[in-house]
Amino acid sequence: MPTPTPAPLPVAELHLHLDGTLEPDFIMETAARNGVDLPWNDLADLESRYAFTDLQSFLDLLYVNLTVLRTREDFAEMTRRYLARAAAAGVRHAEVSSDVQAHVRRGIPAQTVVGGIRDVLDRSEEDFGITTRLIVSFWRDAPAEEALGLLRELIASGARFDGIGLDSAEVGYPPSLFTEVYDLAREHGLHLVAHAGEEGPPSYITEALDVLRVERVDHGIRCLEDDAVVERLVADQVPLTVCPLSNVRLRTVDTMADHPIMTMLERGLVVSINSDDPPYFGGHVDANVAAVQDTFGADDATMARFARHSFVSSFLTDDERARYLAEVDAWLEGRTAARG
Ligand code: ADE
Ligand code: ZN
Repeated sequence: MPTPTPAPLPVAELHLHLDGTLEPDFIMETAARNGVDLPWNDLADLESRYAFTDLQSFLDLLYVNLTVLRTREDFAEMTRRYLARAAAAGVRHAEVSSDVQAHVRRGIPAQTVVGGIRDVLDRSEEDFGITTRLIVSFWRDAPAEEALGLLRELIASGARFDGIGLDSAEVGYPPSLFTEVYDLAREHGLHLVAHAGEEGPPSYITEALDVLRVERVDHGIRCLEDDAVVERLVADQVPLTVCPLSNVRLRTVDTMADHPIMTMLERGLVVSINSDDPPYFGGHVDANVAAVQDTFGADDATMARFARHSFVSSFLTDDERARYLAEVDAWLEGRTAARG
């Protein structure tokens, strides 16, 4: 009898850029279909560009590649492909983000972007068995007035999304530049998250909490450079959505063995494991989970702690969260029973 494939760890993926999920072959095919001129000669040429030196070198590639998306169906297909792959990776709930602004800037209506994504998210539970939320992220290295204008437009149009985020080049663009944007989002009952402490200093994490009043921090790994920041994050149980493979590929840490995720867990931080932009960094959440487990020899009970953190850190209702936490318990029991 063939050995059954072990069930993947059930997780919530909370740090995932939909615009960063396009596989190279999909990029080339979509460019050809939409008549978009890319600077890459062919698929092999594109694939040779995935060696990054820092965050900016990755963003330079990402922002060219996402220009292939033009129609509502393109945005729907991007979302469908992510959810299909995420389901196989063990994702039970996904809080996905999109840089809607990146598309609006090149003349694509916000309604095309959000509409296409929503067409798929609205049926994600029936079609993929994954509950979802949508976060609209703004570029911190673009003017805050632009973000404010887009947020106003999205709210006025009745676009359905659950929260806002802040991403793109971090150093030199502190969270406080976006105070007005976050104030408006809060007034409208939106959830608030922001990238901080990826390449930027620990003070950006504090600023995101104090000034933007975010509920969750994306990355946050540089908190370890300041004990007071760590103590505060632990005391307030602020969730950090960590992306191990991303951090290695963008050289914020040298190797997986140097990644601080286990130290973060041991210090009492609410860390979860996420994939950020999977094709750019070497894999989806299952690959990130495997990298952590294999590199650190973490046992199943430890991996279940990361999974529990992911659901605790989510914007799920209490009932939904309880249902998923029971799945993590069942996964751990199954693994324990399988070991005998
Ligand atoms: N956009 C997509 N991925 C990002 C990351 N890891 N940091 C900042 N901006 C991003
Ligand atoms: Zn990110």
